[in-house]
Amino acid sequence: MTKTADDAAPIATKGLVMRAAQASWYDALAAVLTLGRERALRDRLAQLARLAPGEAVLDVGCGTGSLALAAKRQVGATGTIVGVDASPEMIALAARKAARAGADVTFRNACAERLPFPDGTFDAVLSTLMLHHLPATLRRECAREAFRVLKPGGRMLAVDFSRPSLKRGGLLARLHRHGGVPLDAMVALLRDAGLRVEETGSVGESGAQLGLAVTPKPGEYATRHDAVPATRALPPLGGARWILAAVVVAALAAHVWMAGRLAGMVSLSVAGIAAGAIALVGVAVHVLGMRRR
Ligand SMILES: C[S@@+](CC[C@H](N)C(=O)[O-])C[C@H]1O[C@@H](n2cnc3c(N)ncnc32)[C@H](O)[C@@H]1O
Repeated sequence: MTKTADDAAPIATKGLVMRAAQASWYDALAAVLTLGRERALRDRLAQLARLAPGEAVLDVGCGTGSLALAAKRQVGATGTIVGVDASPEMIALAARKAARAGADVTFRNACAERLPFPDGTFDAVLSTLMLHHLPATLRRECAREAFRVLKPGGRMLAVDFSRPSLKRGGLLARLHRHGGVPLDAMVALLRDAGLRVEETGSVGESGAQLGLAVTPKPGEYATRHDAVPATRALPPLGGARWILAAVVVAALAAHVWMAGRLAGMVSLSVAGIAAGAIALVGVAVHVLGMRRR
């Protein structure tokens, strides 16, 4: 059963909270911007966090809960997943989505800088595309909180865009021009919070980059670890590209509909040209995005 708590009260935070207006289109936009590969992306992120059956996992700034659901698929029936977000609307959407999927995931309206959990609760903490929603001070508080709620030897996976710009980084990154967290800043953030960064790299979608860090185990010194982490660049995601087909079909349908309404006009109607242009732009953006990775 899916559970929610405190989901009516907005949380006071200086973070950029996505309220109803943004929350309602978030999933549709994510589907379009990842060209129908969002599920594959979420599954990949859950794997990057090395989630194992039976683990307890927290997704901070969980949005509509897509990653929390992927995490649940990975930890199985014996694992526990909690998602928190400062937006009550995001939490409500996430809870509905989990209920539809029949997934036992808990969602709570809470903020990253004040996590409502005791020390040492989780095996892994996830934070994807959320850090850039926080001002620098809150980012540090969020990392310290993640460290606090992790068990010794627990892992934190942070994923964000390093260099949002109009020209680079794929569709998803371009939507996030309101901010980004460079990889070196993400590494410093994790280290300053007391974690040892084990791995960095690119996740293979829209220029997003990852930092995977662990908390010290008993007997290890809980001091700053500056060892160079392993780096890897994951290949672009394969799988569904249904969005391209959907764009072409929608464009053709629009053409047929417009042609019907403008009966008597030549077949190369304005609608036809527009529909063809939309399809071509979609393909071009996709191909360019693939070549840049
Ligand atoms: C771009 S969305 C990312 C959502 C999700 N992690 C994903 O990967 O799709 C950023 C999320 O961070 C949330 N957020 C912003 N400030 C926050 C804070 N201080 N504490 C918790 N969540 C916050 C927003 O409401 C939003 O849902």
